Parts: sequence; C-alpha cells; structure tokens
Amino acid sequence: MNVLITGATGYIGSHTIVSLLENGYEVIGLDNFSNSKGNVLDKLEKITGKKIKFYQGNMLNEDLLDKIFSENKIDFVIDFAAYKSVGDSVSKPIEYYINNVSSVLNLIKVMKKYNIKSLIFSSSATVYGMPSKVPIIETDKVGGTTNPYGTSKLFVEKILDDLYKSDNTWNICLFRYFNPVGAHPSGIIGEMPNGVPANLMPYISMVATGKLPLLQIFGNDYDTIDGTGVRDYIHIMDLADAHVCAIEKLHNKQEFNIYNLGTGKGTSVLELVKTYEKVNKVKINYKIAPRRTGDIASCYASAKKAEKELGWKTKYTIEEMCKDAHNFIVKND
Ligand code: UFG
Repeated sequence: MNVLITGATGYIGSHTIVSLLENGYEVIGLDNFSNSKGNVLDKLEKITGKKIKFYQGNMLNEDLLDKIFSENKIDFVIDFAAYKSVGDSVSKPIEYYINNVSSVLNLIKVMKKYNIKSLIFSSSATVYGMPSKVPIIETDKVGGTTNPYGTSKLFVEKILDDLYKSDNTWNICLFRYFNPVGAHPSGIIGEMPNGVPANLMPYISMVATGKLPLLQIFGNDYDTIDGTGVRDYIHIMDLADAHVCAIEKLHNKQEFNIYNLGTGKGTSVLELVKTYEKVNKVKINYKIAPRRTGDIASCYASAKKAEKELGWKTKYTIEEMCKDAHNFIVKND
C-alpha cells in the first residue's frame, strides 16, 4: 500500500515514516523544509535501509499536488504539514491560516479529483481549549482555542467533518496529539526545533547539555500534585505506531473517526525534570517563574477509544522518553 506523507521530514512525519517502512508500506514524501532539513531523508534511509520517493515543495502549490497524484498510485494520505508554533501564530495569524487551512483545502480538492478518499489528519489536543475535566475524551467539547495555531486545527477538523457529511464515501481519521516527546531510539532522528525551543522537553535537553543556562518552570501554584503543570507526554515512536494501526484498521472503511493520542497518564513539569535528571545522570538548573499566559493546570487524555478500536497501546515509559530525548541531543550536537 502506498502512503503519501505531507510534512514528511518534520518531527512526527519522519518518525511515522520509519514505522510505516518497517511495517511494509511504501511511502511517498512531500515537504518544503520550512521547519526541517533535507538530510532527514538520508537519516531515514540509514535507519530503515529503504529509500523513499520524495517531492520538495509546498502544498499551496496545487499543480505540484496534482503531479504527485498523477505520478503515483496513492492509497492513503497522512497530512502532517503545518506550522506549529503557538507564539508565532499569534503574531502571524494569516500566514498560519493560509498554510494550515488552505493547504488542506488544496489537498482535498486534488484527492477528490483522483478519487483517493482516505485521510489521516494530524490535529492536536489544543482543540479542547480549556478542558473542563481530565482525562479528556473525544466527545468532550472543543473550541475556545486561545491562539491561531489551535484555531487553525479546529477549523480543519470542522472542514473535514463537513466534507464527510456531504460525502460519506470518505474515510477520515482525526488524531488529536497530546505532548509528543523523545526520539527514535537510535538517536538518528528526533526533534530539532529552530532557535530556542518553546516546548518543555527540548528545552530541558538544551539545559542538560549546557546550550541553555536555565529552565524556567512556569508556575508552581497550580492545583496539581506538586503545583507545576501536568501534561500527557507520549513517546514519538508510540505516536508513529498509531498511524500504522489506523491504516491497518481503517483502510477499507468509509468512516469519520476521532482519536486522542496520549498515554492516559499525566506527568508534572517537576516530575519530568526529576526523571530526566535520574535516567540521564545530569543536573537540570531550573527556577520557578510566573505562570505562562494561556497555560492550563492539567491536560491528559483518555486513550481508551484508540486502544479499543485501533488495537493501539503506548509502550514507552516516561523514563524512556527522557532517555531517548537526551540520546538524540547528545548525538546531534
Ligand atoms: N513549561 C515550562 N517551561 C518551559 C516550557 C514549558 O515550565 O520552558 C511547562 C508549561 O508551562 C506546561 C508544560 O511545561 O505546563 C508543557 O508545556 P509545552 O510548551 O511543552 O506544551 P503545551 O502543553 O503547552 O503545548 C503543547 C504544544 C501545543 C499543543 C499542545 C496540545 O506545544 O502545540 O501541547 O495539548 F497544542
């Protein structure tokens, strides 16, 4: 089966390609390297021993999409291509809406033309806004997003929902990712943010390796186990495997499905810092800082639906997430 991956060289796209290739799928990749590097392709070949067919370009270029579909027999599409910085999205909302929403509209148009109707869309737990309770289940209220990045994901979810309502021969799966962290255990690929990372795990890794002096922990007065924010960290390889499970279970269906992808377990900032220090035998300098605007106390998934319907279950522990994150940064200094 041939799977088109948009955002192929990005963090989640690249790890998913490893899982797909290892499970016997053929992959066609597309990326414009807006937030990744071309050498990821060589690294994927190094890990899997397989070459992937790759197109460099932008999904806003409908002619390119048309060319890809005309040159390949595609069975399934996984759409990872998007801008993902919460902070940037506040200062560049229109760029975010064009890149994250118009690109999907183009993709749908071309998929329709070639009668390819199977799509996994990478959404985010951010669509739940300020959740009223945890663990979050898929039928909980969405909306109330606090930044254009989150709103762009919400808009695309709605567009795909409308599409399915208009034509139920589509096969659409929305994955709402919680907090993906870690790296491929080889340390060959991982998360390589441009500039100073905004997310906790890459920030911890930079402090651990002396590239940044100090971690600021944003708030220790939340109503959580130790006052620091609680999130559902999920190992990137577990997340990648969910896509393989979804294709296996859903490939000949005509359904609209939504799944949370998380472990179902919350971990606080301090717990993550302590675990990272312990498993990697390093010291993380940190100080308690004021709360970050827009943050919530606790956010974790109920992942029972994905387990029941896709037969998918997370395997990696918090210890392994910290170990693999550190291994990657040490090997890619
Ligand atoms: N944190 C710190 N210091 C830092 C960075 C983060 O204390 O330097 C804390 C945050 O306050 C929060 C936790 O670490 O309590 C996790 O923060 P992240 O920025 O790593 O992740 P978020 O949960 O805020 O957001 C992430 C993605 C979003 C996505 C969301 C989905 O960045 O894109 O998960 O739930 F939408």
